[in-house]
Amino acid sequence: MPESVDRLLWDDWHPVADLSALRPGASLRTVLLGVALRIDATANGHLVAREDGVPAHGEVRYGFVWACLGEPARDIIDIPEASEDWRCITTSGPFGVHASAPRLVENFLDLGHLPFVHQGYLGAEPATAVAPYQVRPLPEGGIIATGCKMFQPMSSPAATEGFVVEYTYKVLRPLITCLHKANPARRDMFDALYLLVQPVSEERSIGNLLVLFGKDNTTEADLRWFQQLIFLQDKPILENQFPKRLPIGPRMEMAVAADKASVAYRRWLAEIGLRHGTIGGRALEDSEAA
Ligand SMILES: [Fe+2]
Repeated sequence: MPESVDRLLWDDWHPVADLSALRPGASLRTVLLGVALRIDATANGHLVAREDGVPAHGEVRYGFVWACLGEPARDIIDIPEASEDWRCITTSGPFGVHASAPRLVENFLDLGHLPFVHQGYLGAEPATAVAPYQVRPLPEGGIIATGCKMFQPMSSPAATEGFVVEYTYKVLRPLITCLHKANPARRDMFDALYLLVQPVSEERSIGNLLVLFGKDNTTEADLRWFQQLIFLQDKPILENQFPKRLPIGPRMEMAVAADKASVAYRRWLAEIGLRHGTIGGRALEDSEAA
């Protein structure tokens, strides 16, 4: 295991390919946590191999090929919405971003940027204020933010009018986050969107979206297109952030916008001691103490 990689990432599953980008018989090269991988689509399924010949674990689930470089400490994340018939399920991406994986997760949690970066879709001026919402830790690790609300002119391709959309955000693993938001056609039902980040290196990552939205008024192609449009609005913002790695130390929080979910995510990463793709956490304290 490279010295810069945390055991908890090494022994976890990460998405490494979107199946829709892998034709039968084709192979794809990618990098996970600094390790070069080749993914082959064969008649017997998808094989994940390290370029250096060291064995790696591979699985296919939810439209993605997943890899674990170490010994899996737990299973691939459970996504219960994937078995619900009322949803149209598709993927969007992959989106290569010159920023660390935790930066992508933090941006996903940030309600405050919606009216500015996704103006006309996920927010609109002058309705830019973020109403108070609640954040608490999840018992199995991670965080949940509830009671989030934002006026959205076009919350999804299924929307026919703007409305105040209710949101829940969860961080389930260090690099996996999801949101649930009211479906425009059936407002008591909740669309689900998962951001599954592939950490390429400390400062490069690939964002993959698993879209599980209501079927009414939309199509797979529209859902893919919509998420692509939104993500491509985020990409330049992410790539212009400095530093590329996410600051998580207590002294870094002054630089954070008043966003409770983001602060809670950074604190949780500091608590679990995640070093890869972050700065100012335990690694800094250790080096200062030395
Ligand atoms: Fe965004």
